[in-house]
Amino acid sequence: MKSLSLPKQVQIVEVGPRDGLQNESLPVPTDTKLAFIQKLIEAGLTQIEVTSFVHPKAIPQLADADEVARRLPRTPGVGFSALVPNERGLRRAIDAGIKRIAVFTACSETFTRNNINMSVDDSLEVFRPLITEAIKNGISARGYLSTCFVCPFEGDMDKTRVRELTQKLLDLGVNQVAISDTIGAAAPTDVFETVGHMLQAVPADLIALHFHDTYGRALANVFAGLQLGIETYDSSAGGLGGCPFAPGAAGNLATEDLVSMLERIGIETGIDLQKVAAAAAVTAGALQPVPTRRPWNRPRSIP
Ligand code: COA
Ligand code: ZN
Repeated sequence: MKSLSLPKQVQIVEVGPRDGLQNESLPVPTDTKLAFIQKLIEAGLTQIEVTSFVHPKAIPQLADADEVARRLPRTPGVGFSALVPNERGLRRAIDAGIKRIAVFTACSETFTRNNINMSVDDSLEVFRPLITEAIKNGISARGYLSTCFVCPFEGDMDKTRVRELTQKLLDLGVNQVAISDTIGAAAPTDVFETVGHMLQAVPADLIALHFHDTYGRALANVFAGLQLGIETYDSSAGGLGGCPFAPGAAGNLATEDLVSMLERIGIETGIDLQKVAAAAAVTAGALQPVPTRRPWNRPRSIP
């Protein structure tokens, strides 16, 4: 067999407390969220996205963002991040002691309008002073670029636009862009095409990949990313998650599945698989049971 060139280690960004819980129909008590985060730390996760400082009516599940952030179990070597859409969100993040923010826009105009009520260009103009202000306050910034492969409203996305928007986000001062497959529609060929194109202009260490597992392709997409040299992947303990503004967005790639595959390949993560499962179990009691999240197994009334 021709030997593959794969990274020796991978950084996992755990997004369960944010991307995971934002789409669950039952609100999770703040104490349960904090217990979940504590267990994730015990499992060895060192980058955890904990909440969103967005409008509480947009994401009621994360309306307790200020309290969650204030009560975080601060631990040496563990970084917490939170989503911030605008100046108001940044102010809340600073007041709550957050040291890493994530701004978010998308390739698709329709999705961006639905999600944050702005055009893509306007969102970049909102982020410009916000990121400058964050950095001045000792806060680093990540950028999310949603719908990089397929948009639920506009269909296939253009790889040149993905590359250009990634570069624009980097020019604004983010130190990582999470290339996101918001509805989990990409296949490994799309990853080679879109991310491969991007890597002609952008260094691999500035890119993270964020996959949803709607059609069971997230791990295959990770494997494509590994072959391209990408070393940072987002995932969510228990495979929780989705996006309330993206019809069809199902659970995130499960952290357990990702760690299990990487271990088998021989790539270091520093994460204890059993302890991730224990962390996911903390939220399980608070959530509605979903036997399988694949769209073809859902009742017809749910889009
Ligand atoms: N936190 C709390 N309140 C906020 C806020 C924030 N970050 N940003 C704006 N608001 C409040 C304003 O104070 C204003 O309040 P008022 O009506 O009491 O005066 C109101 O929201 C409207 O402000 P405006 O700037 O016009 O916001 P908007 O209605 O255009 O909404 C966003 C824009 C970005 C705040 C909203 O769309 C949002 O929070 N989206 C988040 C979507 C998301 O998280 N998606 C999932 C992640 S991919
Ligand atoms: Zn997501």
